[in-house]
Amino acid sequence: MLRGQREIRSLVLVVGVALMPIGAAPLAMAADPPKVTPAAPVSPSDAAVKLPARYPDASAHRPTPIPDRIILTWAGDPSTTQAVTWRTSDEITRGIAQIAPALDNGRDILPAARTEVAKTTVLETDLGKAAYHSVEFRDLKPASLYAYRVGDGENWSEWSHFRTAHAPRESDPEPFSFVYFGDAQNDIKSLWSRVIRQAYSDAPKARFLIHAGDLVTTSNSDALWGEWFGAAGWINANVPAVPVPGNHEYIRPRDAQGKTIPNSKGRLTRHWRPQFTLPTHGPAGLEETAYTFDFQGARIVALNSNEQHEEQVKWLERVLQERPSTSRWTILTFHHPIYSTAKGRDNAELRKLWQPTFDQYGVDLVLQGHDHTYARMGPRFAENLPSGLNVRDRHAGTVYVVSVSGPKMYNLERNPEMRRAAEDTQMFQIVTVDGQSLRYEARTATGVLYDAFELRKRPGQPNEFIDKVPAGPEHLRPAKPKPAEVKAAAVGGR
Ligand SMILES: [Fe+2]
Repeated sequence: MLRGQREIRSLVLVVGVALMPIGAAPLAMAADPPKVTPAAPVSPSDAAVKLPARYPDASAHRPTPIPDRIILTWAGDPSTTQAVTWRTSDEITRGIAQIAPALDNGRDILPAARTEVAKTTVLETDLGKAAYHSVEFRDLKPASLYAYRVGDGENWSEWSHFRTAHAPRESDPEPFSFVYFGDAQNDIKSLWSRVIRQAYSDAPKARFLIHAGDLVTTSNSDALWGEWFGAAGWINANVPAVPVPGNHEYIRPRDAQGKTIPNSKGRLTRHWRPQFTLPTHGPAGLEETAYTFDFQGARIVALNSNEQHEEQVKWLERVLQERPSTSRWTILTFHHPIYSTAKGRDNAELRKLWQPTFDQYGVDLVLQGHDHTYARMGPRFAENLPSGLNVRDRHAGTVYVVSVSGPKMYNLERNPEMRRAAEDTQMFQIVTVDGQSLRYEARTATGVLYDAFELRKRPGQPNEFIDKVPAGPEHLRPAKPKPAEVKAAAVGGR
């Protein structure tokens, strides 16, 4: 008998005793000696032990006229625009969004609101059709709190708040924090949800959430996207997301036996563009997967490490060359790490192609995923540049990080440049940009500080790097004994 079935049977017996009529004599007090009757065997076919049927995904994730999967993103300038995307059943052909200044008396919001009509796309998923609606609010006031809701005129979401970024300014930009997650990918509802909720609890004022690819493991599965949106819940409606696609957001063709065709080119999942409203200014063919925006003194650049690597170099050069003087920090995010942290996954070609541009323009921080381990390197300085103090000094050291937020874990490939690493640890990272300084913290799923450093800008010199690794051992799998040690132990044991 299965453990669950045993437990159900015990429960049935306990309930049976508890329901004995009041006043009925317990067996032990009966006048006649108790007759011992062996308990009737309970077979797995008994109705009482029948396991419940799994509720179908098509029902659990069915869209309705009520908006769900509401998510804030940016397609334009975060100080004057805000995009929102949501889902309904496909009978809703006209989505609308309303926006007003956030006011203390909620009843004053609607009279002050303006209405925008959404662009609507019908998406055919593996569970049926759904409508995705997208609105970009424009001409907003910088540094202002807004309230918005989405719906169809009759069926509405709740009113949610977002705050626009401060307008760019040369001196003393307003400090801000953001959160970065490595791959969520697996057990999203059951085990990743706690990470994003812990992150929100630890950094409730974070201004955006970076997802460095592999958000879900099967990206044409509507049920998995349902888990991803469900795990974040209303956080996505209040804190903008900055997602980049990983290899799992790409669908590769399969042969007649259902096996992936080796070296075949994948295609971005059909879910990506309808459900995220992102900038379309990336290289042709990479709209909404390679993009950039400026936020209070930082230029954030999302690259697509899945395809068109060469085409992105020229685009990236332009994006970095045209950095406004108000954006002194440059933070990159993409999925495949150029310095791998897991066994047998070196990305030498991508490193050769992309790192010279990172070096040339002094990228400060690179946030990656894919390797299902945690590792953070010290600052790396430009390689293969002409020697000479002046050239070297212009190029700040770049700090590379790989992280994982979901529960799928790989073996770490240790590299001497890793200052802090972990295996088997779900993590999230809080980055705070504060004028001339950038503070970084990696925390575990339970909110424990695991890694930290600070970068400080120095005029005409590389960033000052201050390691702040907290005390405590690294989370590492027990080392496997080397063959020679195994042999020695075997000899010693004789
Ligand atoms: Fe990946």
